[in-house]
Amino acid sequence: MSGLMLPVLILSTVLLGFTAVLSAAEFQRFGHAAKADGSLSFLVVGDWGRRGAYNQTEVAIQMGKVGEKLDIDFVISTGDNFYEDGLKGVDDPAFNESFTRIYTAPSLQKQWYSVLGNHDYRGDVEAQLSPVLREMDSKWLCLRSFIVNTEIAEFFFVDTTPFVNKYFLKPKDDVYDWSGILPRKSYLSNLLKDLDLALKESSAKWKIVVGHHTIKSAGQHGNTAELNLQLLPILQANNVDLYINGHDHCLEHISSSESPLQFLTSGGGSKAWRGDVSWWDSKEMKFYYDGQGFMSVQITQTEVDVVFYDVSGEVKHKWSRTEQISSAVL
Ligand SMILES: *[C@@H]1O[C@H](CO)[C@@H](O)[C@H](O)[C@H]1NC(C)=O
Ligand SMILES: *[C@@H]1O[C@H](CO)[C@@H](O)[C@H](O)[C@H]1NC(C)=O
Repeated sequence: MSGLMLPVLILSTVLLGFTAVLSAAEFQRFGHAAKADGSLSFLVVGDWGRRGAYNQTEVAIQMGKVGEKLDIDFVISTGDNFYEDGLKGVDDPAFNESFTRIYTAPSLQKQWYSVLGNHDYRGDVEAQLSPVLREMDSKWLCLRSFIVNTEIAEFFFVDTTPFVNKYFLKPKDDVYDWSGILPRKSYLSNLLKDLDLALKESSAKWKIVVGHHTIKSAGQHGNTAELNLQLLPILQANNVDLYINGHDHCLEHISSSESPLQFLTSGGGSKAWRGDVSWWDSKEMKFYYDGQGFMSVQITQTEVDVVFYDVSGEVKHKWSRTEQISSAVL
């Protein structure tokens, strides 16, 4: 398990360094060293915590195999970590039953970086963010909005649930934990301002934004109008390469004609097969899979490789972007 200690050590060391320097910024910052050759690889899974049910365990087993093959550096969770209503508290057995006991493969004992989904907001949000969970399982880390810098790529994790009007205006029988969010207007405007600034200051070759909600999706939930209006222009203005999300329980890749930005949905961590897919322009829709699975990403200075896998580990879709090394990097 010595491989596990190093990233954790670097993580905490850099965290201390950054918080001192950048205390004015809202986004907490972490450093995560890339591999010795400067490359990076990671897995992405979303919408998963169901105590192993709905193929969650089967997806976890395949993640373990691919994680080993790619020698992954970390795992990203796109949220809806615990169904149906987040965690009840730090002692909720669901943390063990849906996370620790499911993702048991040696290759998955790396740092997990997780955002919150709308279902997580129906529970005790502070519990999911609590260091108590990190003590129970050191691979866990969930925060509202934060930044992970690996030098070659910088990751901007965005808390998307508070953007969505219907959770505030028409919550039906669901009770959301908005403590720490209100007043909502200034929470959102600060978040967007800080994100824009952090993206502008980033010198990373690849910029990747992660949130729970979709920007573009042909799945059950479809596009998130609030994010198209408020978040998308910031991503486009700052040359973000990938927007990675969950929320729709599928695997999906949409490209856009307006910018190089790719929209990648990895929300197939457990319950899937909704059967309701909307029409989408085939020039933009690169891939849609209405079932369980996950995604891998491998990054070098000149290339990004994205692969989607189904519940049996079969490759369903591949996409690559190759770029010349700019003189600024050399
Ligand atoms: C589990 O995966 C298999 C293979 O894709 C699928 O046939 C089955 O319906 C899935 N089970 C559930 C509960 O989604
Ligand atoms: C998690 O579950 C396992 C298996 O049932 C058990 O041995 C372990 O004590 C549990 N851990 C916690 C922190 O509850």
